[in-house]
Amino acid sequence: MKKILVTGVNGLLGQKLVERLAVMPDVQLLATGKGIKRHPDQFQYASMDVTVPQEVDAIFDWFRPDVLIHTAAMTQVDDCEQQQAACYAQNVTAVESLMRAAERFQTHFIHLSTDFIFDGEAGPYKEEDTPNPLSYYGYCKLEAEKKLMQCTSPWTIVRTILVFGLLKDTGRSNIVLWVKSNLLQKKPIRVVTDQFRTPTLAEDLADGCIRLALSGKQGIYHIAGPDFMSIYELACRVAEFFHLPKQLIQPVDSATINQPAKRPPRSGLCIDKAIQELGYAPHTFEQALRLMQEQGMG
Ligand SMILES: NC(=O)c1ccc[n+]([C@@H]2O[C@H](COP(=O)([O-])OP(=O)(O)OC[C@H]3O[C@@H](n4cnc5c(N)ncnc54)[C@H](OP(=O)(O)O)[C@@H]3O)[C@@H](O)[C@H]2O)c1
Repeated sequence: MKKILVTGVNGLLGQKLVERLAVMPDVQLLATGKGIKRHPDQFQYASMDVTVPQEVDAIFDWFRPDVLIHTAAMTQVDDCEQQQAACYAQNVTAVESLMRAAERFQTHFIHLSTDFIFDGEAGPYKEEDTPNPLSYYGYCKLEAEKKLMQCTSPWTIVRTILVFGLLKDTGRSNIVLWVKSNLLQKKPIRVVTDQFRTPTLAEDLADGCIRLALSGKQGIYHIAGPDFMSIYELACRVAEFFHLPKQLIQPVDSATINQPAKRPPRSGLCIDKAIQELGYAPHTFEQALRLMQEQGMG
């Protein structure tokens, strides 16, 4: 029996993780999030704000996890640029508190990181490529990686990219839901042609994390989708798949939309290591859309 503690379970990845882990016979799950549980399924839940060390320590003392999967983070990249102290507290200092707690119980610390640690000049990136973040979010996620590499209990860094999936009642959106809901309401959208990604189905990311938790593998792993495309192409593929008006998608470049945080242009994550070492087998983008349709996306 493995005791697995998950943070941030009201978020996209957290939701998908608990749906799988809660029904695994050899796993004892403790799901945590900030405030009340917003997921409708039944599972063991406790409130834990990862920025409050006393809450982190109390949960570790009580549950004594074998594995921690740390998904909680401040994830809105533009908010991170504009609220840097909050970003540092949630994305770096919180990791240090969790690390200290993990070290007391030799908990295997699985930490979620991002393609935004790279500058996007030469993607798709391999695990050993050199980071060079362009945004404060990317800088903080890289700082957290560096700290975790000093951890004296086992650690794994999972880098992922542009995660999408169907959510249960949390009011959150993601790129696929955003494109679909706007086009459905006949609202025009502007989408960048000069940013390239390997979009990741949240179920695949959860599967990769669970494989790491159960196998105990350590080091850095890129867990992403298999298809490389521009965000504009992604939006067009969503429109085509759901038979929505593609002409409402206006192609623009990054300079036109001028967001507060700089994004890597040509990012993408190479997943060969995860395929070979973990047996990771992600859905193609088309298969991922079909799964979301089957889940009730229409
Ligand atoms: N989504 C992507 O495209 C993407 C890409 C690359 C990397 N990642 C990384 O993957 C991980 C999971 O992302 P996601 O898409 O699941 O993010 P998400 O949907 O934004 O979920 C993050 C969760 O963290 C929670 N949280 C924030 N601050 C917290 C705190 N102090 N204590 C406890 N919980 C807190 C949030 O709570 P509330 O719901 O209450 O706000 C939210 O439920 C993150 O580490 C992120 O940096 C994501």
